[in-house]
Amino acid sequence: MRTPAKTFDMTSSAPDALFSARLDAAASDIEYLLDRLLSTAAATGEITRPKRLIDAVRYATLGGGKRLRPLLVIESGALFGVPRERALMTGAAIECVHCYSLVHDDLPAMDNDEIRRGRPTVHRAYDEATAILTGDSLLTFAFDVLAREQTHPDPGVRIALVAGLARAAGIGGMAGGQMLDLAAEGRFSSTTLSEGEIATLDAMKTGALIKFACVAGAILGQAPKAAHDALGRYGHALGQAFQIADDLLDIEGDASTVGKSTGKDAVRGKATFVDILGSEGAHARLAALVSQAEQALDQFGANAATLRAAARFVAARRA
Ligand code: IPE
Ligand code: IPE
Ligand code: MG
Ligand code: MG
Ligand code: MG
Repeated sequence: MRTPAKTFDMTSSAPDALFSARLDAAASDIEYLLDRLLSTAAATGEITRPKRLIDAVRYATLGGGKRLRPLLVIESGALFGVPRERALMTGAAIECVHCYSLVHDDLPAMDNDEIRRGRPTVHRAYDEATAILTGDSLLTFAFDVLAREQTHPDPGVRIALVAGLARAAGIGGMAGGQMLDLAAEGRFSSTTLSEGEIATLDAMKTGALIKFACVAGAILGQAPKAAHDALGRYGHALGQAFQIADDLLDIEGDASTVGKSTGKDAVRGKATFVDILGSEGAHARLAALVSQAEQALDQFGANAATLRAAARFVAARRA
């Protein structure tokens, strides 16, 4: 798989070597777990066919991606002594939803993209109908994973995870945000979004899943409300920062490093902060969000060093 450690800018504000090592370790653990989860089901006879769909699901899920969301679960969980295996199960479920969102986001009816993670998008490698069913399969598989006892022995915790992920992925979260994103292109009626409306759109389409990854550690660790809320504030700022960085990469990034086509948001009329604030203004907003994210972690002291580095990584990333 690609090595995430090499995908950011090594400037003084860049994340440290320890962060890179942790992201690499999370990426390889999650790759191994997803591979095992997706093939164990096949091996036990639960899912042995249709082969074309299984192949497409594996293609969409394995062999790429930074795996930042699983790292966020591991690190937020570590604040409360959550065993790594439980954080990885939860991270794998979130990654399934994330991979599904990418498959559908790339469809001709959505962003109509041909390259994802440096390879042909699922609808190009397979076909559109298979890509739709791949997304459906991954979304539902995520809840299968969360419902398992290895994720957490307490059914109440599993229900809280299921509810949290459902809300982050659904109408009030990612799916709703994707709809706002398409509407902002003027597809359904001509419209111009205010700064606040773009912030809401980003918080839903990208922020909700990232925020959930951050609070999932608190859910798994049955953390006190104040700690849960602080991770929510961190996740909210991080999610906003993540989408602004993504929008800047669309303009300033190198397609071969980013692993997807660049320069397409403006052509499509996407509503972004870069669009309304300009590149310099968007960079300033990004820096402010990184400090906001770091400050939200004050109560955790040195234990949250990797989460603070994650905020800097999000801003400095090149892929
Ligand atoms: C890309 O997410 C889509 C957005 C939410 C902006 P990532 O940049 O995390 O994609 P991968 O998983 O690393 O490919
Ligand atoms: C996508 O935002 C957010 C998702 C929910 C998938 P983008 O459309 O900007 O993501 P990329 O640039 O295609 O990865
Ligand atoms: Mg999109
Ligand atoms: Mg897209
Ligand atoms: Mg983008």
